[in-house]
Formats: sequence, C-alpha cells, structure tokens
Amino acid sequence: MADSATLKEYLTFAIALAKEAGALIKAASEKRMADGGAVLVKYENPADLVTETDQAVEKFIKERLAATYPDHKFIGEETMAAGAETAFTDKPTWIVDPVDGTTNFVHGFPFVAVSIGLTIGKEPVVGVVYNPLMDELYSAAKGQGAFLNVNQQLPLLRAPLQDVSQCLVATEAGSDRSPAVIDKKIQFIHDIVSQLGAQAHSLRCTGSAALNLCHIAKGVLDVYWEVGCWEWDVTAAIVIVNEAGGKVYSGASTPDPRPVNIFSRKYLAIRSGSEEQQLKVAHQLWEIIPEIDAPRKPVPGGFEP
Ligand code: IPD
Ligand code: CA
Repeated sequence: MADSATLKEYLTFAIALAKEAGALIKAASEKRMADGGAVLVKYENPADLVTETDQAVEKFIKERLAATYPDHKFIGEETMAAGAETAFTDKPTWIVDPVDGTTNFVHGFPFVAVSIGLTIGKEPVVGVVYNPLMDELYSAAKGQGAFLNVNQQLPLLRAPLQDVSQCLVATEAGSDRSPAVIDKKIQFIHDIVSQLGAQAHSLRCTGSAALNLCHIAKGVLDVYWEVGCWEWDVTAAIVIVNEAGGKVYSGASTPDPRPVNIFSRKYLAIRSGSEEQQLKVAHQLWEIIPEIDAPRKPVPGGFEP
C-alpha cells in the first residue's frame, strides 16, 4: 500500500486530470447545444450509447496516465469495449469511465461525469468524479476524507440514518433491457415505493452510477442499488462513499456484508450513519432485492464467477 504522501500525489494528479477531461466534455456538450443538438452518437445500441466524446476523452486520459505513470495499469470503459483483456493485479491500476451518463450527455440532461479511480493492492484508494456541467468535483483518497470541490468535507448532510421507509432511494434501468431483468427491477421499484412495500420516501434515477454514489457520499441520497454497471462506473465513487462514512456492498439478494467486489456488477450503497443502522437498512433491502443475473467474462485476479 502506498504511503499517505504518495496517495495525496495521485489524488492531486487525478483531480487535475479530471478537470482537463471535464473541460473536453463541457466543450463538446456546449458545441452540441450551439449546433442545435447535432448527434454525436458513434455506436447506437439504444440502451448503451457511445459517442465520439467518450472515445476522445478516454484516449486523452489514457495517454496522460501512460506518460506520467508508465508502470501503472489501465482499465477503461472504451478500451475494454474495444476488446482489451483485463487481469487485475496488485499493481497501481487506474479504472476510468471517460463519460458516465452518456445517455444524459446525448440528451443534454446535466448528470454527466468523468470518473477516475485507482486501486493499489486491489483496493480502491483514490477516486475523483467530476461533473463539468454542474462544476461539481467529488474526490477522496483512502484515510484522507472525501470532499466536494476540494474543500467541502462530505457528507454535507448528516441527519441520522433511519428505517428504509424514511429513505430516498436511487436505482437505474441499466443497459440490459431484457424483459426478465426489467420485470425484476420494476418489481423492486414497486416493493420500495408502494403502500404494500417499504413505502420509502421516493425514488430517483440520475442516469449516472458514479453520480448516484457521489450523492450517497454527499448524504442527499440514502440508498442506491443497481445491477448491471461495471467497475469503471463505480471504483472512483466507492472510495468517495467509503471516505464519507458510507458503505458499498456487492448487492445481491443474499445478505453479504463483505466489502464490495468492484467487478461484481451488483452494488448496494448506504449513506453514512452508525454501522448498526447501515446494516439494518441493508438487511431491509436484501429482503426485497431480486436475484438478477449480470454475467461477465472472468477477470483473472479479480472476479471468478
Ligand atoms: C451507465 C450509467 C447508468 C447505469 C449503467 C451504466 P454509461 O454508464 O452509469 O446510470 O445505469 O449501468 O452503464 O453507459 O453512461 O457510461
Ligand atoms: Ca459508465
């Protein structure tokens, strides 16, 4: 594990990189608005869009990381989509989503972020998530706290965590739209908000896994559950949630209070509160979270299904 000065150096670097990447995303978004919304979609799968901006921003980040830290490893959404193989090792590994919330980016809905995480010894230790459209930068390094715009310590809201009936809950449709998956997600939503179910305060979908987690860190969401997102969506934000006193579990329907596996594609996050209260809320959720398959290729050293 790196010492705290080294982690601080990586964090400072990642913040500067996220700001530069964010400027590229913002310029691309403003250009689209000025052009009246010319569509930049490069690969059209209606549930999983990819734009030129996703690819350009990942290339920018990947090249900058390789020039600065040539020995470090890299896992990025677009690099993996292009067929790269992943092996997860103890070496410093940057896990990057150039644009989280690509569908939002395409529609001009302003929950869009670049996400830059770092693992060392397979543990997420540095995370930066920057939404350039709202100019909100979330950052954390292990043992050094989590911050909004570098100087506001997270969580901002610290009300005691209550029963799930008092919670604001986030989830997403995700990119697997097969009826078997969507029916279970709709059932979960029904069970969370209906009078016959947990009757939580309400439900939110921001369209960005990274920003849902950052809102957990901020304390403005109480619970976030999703099946189907990937390590690049969550690694940076997991550090931010942990440092803000929140918890992220590999959120299957079976209670599993072990630390989250970033490759699990199943995540349940609870905002800060006492450990007892967090586990109570997690258990209430595990009662209603459905079993959903989220298959993936094995990741040697990281995830063997
Ligand atoms: C997606 C977003 C979305 C989540 C999907 C992710 P992308 O990432 O985070 O909120 O529901 O599971 O894949 O495609 O915008 O980078
Ligand atoms: Ca993403």
